[in-house]
Amino acid sequence: MASSMAAAASYLSPPPVTAERPTARGCLHFPSAPASSRFLRLHSAGGRSPANRKPRYLRRAAKVVVAAMADPLKVMIAGAPASGKGTQCELIKAKYGVVHISAGDLLRAEIAAGTENGKRAKEFMEKGQLVPDDIVVNMVKERLLQPDAQENGWLLDGYPRSYSQAMALETLGIRPDIFILLDVPDEILVERVVGRRLDPVTGRIYHVKYSPPENEEIAARLTQRFDDTEEKVKLRLQTHYQNVESLLSIYEDVIVKVKGDATVEGVFAEIDKLLNSSVDKKEEMVASA
Ligand code: AP5
Repeated sequence: MASSMAAAASYLSPPPVTAERPTARGCLHFPSAPASSRFLRLHSAGGRSPANRKPRYLRRAAKVVVAAMADPLKVMIAGAPASGKGTQCELIKAKYGVVHISAGDLLRAEIAAGTENGKRAKEFMEKGQLVPDDIVVNMVKERLLQPDAQENGWLLDGYPRSYSQAMALETLGIRPDIFILLDVPDEILVERVVGRRLDPVTGRIYHVKYSPPENEEIAARLTQRFDDTEEKVKLRLQTHYQNVESLLSIYEDVIVKVKGDATVEGVFAEIDKLLNSSVDKKEEMVASA
């Protein structure tokens, strides 16, 4: 699976383009230059003659940038514990340049920093329960409203998880273009949770069987999350099923279920098609405005 992850990362990566700076993964990254100058650079060279027609990957890049400028892509991704949200987010972020905001990661950062919120949050996370709204809601809202997310679009992972959390965004007029719900059978989820490992240096997600580390050095430093035990994942699953239904009606116009029990690349191919189509719709709207 490590090699398949690497393969996924490489097939995501277009050759370097002039208007965007490729990152280490070769992905699209929007530099901090003003949006207008990025726009001009993309549209300044040549006309529409076949000789000047850009290769497909460049047109794709241009599409993403145009959409990002006018109305950046906004994505929510949900699913049971270990359904693959974080794994897919790495790939989505790499291709679409959106800002990944993971509620779980924000909470773990609070825990690591030893804040009061972190201490309180940990009590709930250890029981597999939702952390109370008075901690989570503002934390996510503040992150969403930061300039990088506003400019490049966002990918909200693991939020909202309840009706009240969704309504907190609705009242601010914050809605996604698409709500992806990963669907994976429970028995697979338990195996994924128990075998998950994290690299504290790169933040990369591994699995002892499905996505093993590339070398001994990485293997030696991998860590396991405190809530990644069989006992705790069962509680987390219960919490997920108790709450997910309440989101379906709020996002029914943008929700798409994706089967998450295929390979990492297979799942991403499906998500990529959906996101492409969202970007196309945005581009059409920009063109017709
Ligand atoms: P959070 O950190 O969000 O955990 P979660 O929702 O339980 O999801 P996970 O991070 O466990 O899994 P994932 O879907 O990202 O899967 P991954 O890609 O890592 O939340 C933790 C806790 O914080 C919650 O329980 C709650 O207490 C609290 N919390 C968070 N948000 C909250 C909110 N909004 N409100 C209140 N409380 C909140 O993949 C898992 C493993 O599977 C990996 O090892 C990976 O390599 C492997 N894998 C992934 N995809 C595949 C594939 N296709 N094939 C084979 N293996 C795969």
